Amino acid sequence: MIDNFKKDIDSGLSSSPKSLPSKYFYDEIGDDLFVKIMHSEEYYLTRAELDIFTNQTQQIIDHLQLKKDTYFELIELGAGDGLKTKKLLKSLSDQNYKFDYLPVDISQNALKNLEKSINKELPKVSIKSKQGDYFEVLESLKETKVPKIVLFLGSNIGNMEDEIASQFIYKLGSNLNKNDKLFLGVDLIKSADIVKPAYNDSEGFTREFNLNLLTRINKELGGDFDREQFEHQPEYEESDGIAKSYIVSESNQKVFIEKLDKTFEFEKGEKIFTEISRKYNDQIIQNLISDTSFSVSSKLSDSKDYFSTYILNRS
Ligand code: AVJ
Repeated sequence: MIDNFKKDIDSGLSSSPKSLPSKYFYDEIGDDLFVKIMHSEEYYLTRAELDIFTNQTQQIIDHLQLKKDTYFELIELGAGDGLKTKKLLKSLSDQNYKFDYLPVDISQNALKNLEKSINKELPKVSIKSKQGDYFEVLESLKETKVPKIVLFLGSNIGNMEDEIASQFIYKLGSNLNKNDKLFLGVDLIKSADIVKPAYNDSEGFTREFNLNLLTRINKELGGDFDREQFEHQPEYEESDGIAKSYIVSESNQKVFIEKLDKTFEFEKGEKIFTEISRKYNDQIIQNLISDTSFSVSSKLSDSKDYFSTYILNRS
């Protein structure tokens, strides 16, 4: 793990333009900050998706075309806090559907917390958490031909460039069977006055979240980044529908990273690209899935039309 981190930081800071992978946001501090972001005034994504799960639970169930007497697996990629999924779980359980809930996450800790809260709030739901890489877990579940519904929520797919996202969906398809469903939650393209503040909240959680990457490099790799000399910079144009985050160097400076035994130079105004948060529309979703085994079977949106959940059917 630490070796991958080392390698990725080295190659990101050695390339031009410089970049750092967004997956490294999520250490313990980053996890906490992301929860704060989700609760911030400006970050509408979580509330919009929760709106769908709260107010259209029955539509979701109807669209999934589930049968009450057929056992299925509800697999969630990324455990999260389960707030949205619990709405669905409760309704399925109240209606006596037969299923297991299988949250998949790399973090054992996240799974344990989720398991505890589900057992407490929804004791009737059978939860079987799976620690590990998404594809390893799916591969291991592939043997059983039971119907599967895969949830990939929160617009997490937006952290992938389109081509990578498309390959990801393709790979999901190859681990599923005919008529299995993929439930994809995505943020929609909308005006910059709504999107930009979501990536630059007034309490500064997002700024901290982004700059925490530098703190992490200092802590884990013995870097000497001076946080005062860097700033958080979000960018978004409605015309391309892609929010991007950068860390900008505020001066000409050198940073030494002990565990890499290397010095990196930054020019004043130089940008380190840290995150892509893609926004979507029907056309972009169609393009993403065009070379995969999925087709759109239906779509649900929140009352403000900020966010959609696409239900994709594996053919
Ligand atoms: C968890 C990837 C959906 O891109 O909106 C929040 C992460 N980054 N604020 C997103 C994030 C900055 C978030 N996702």
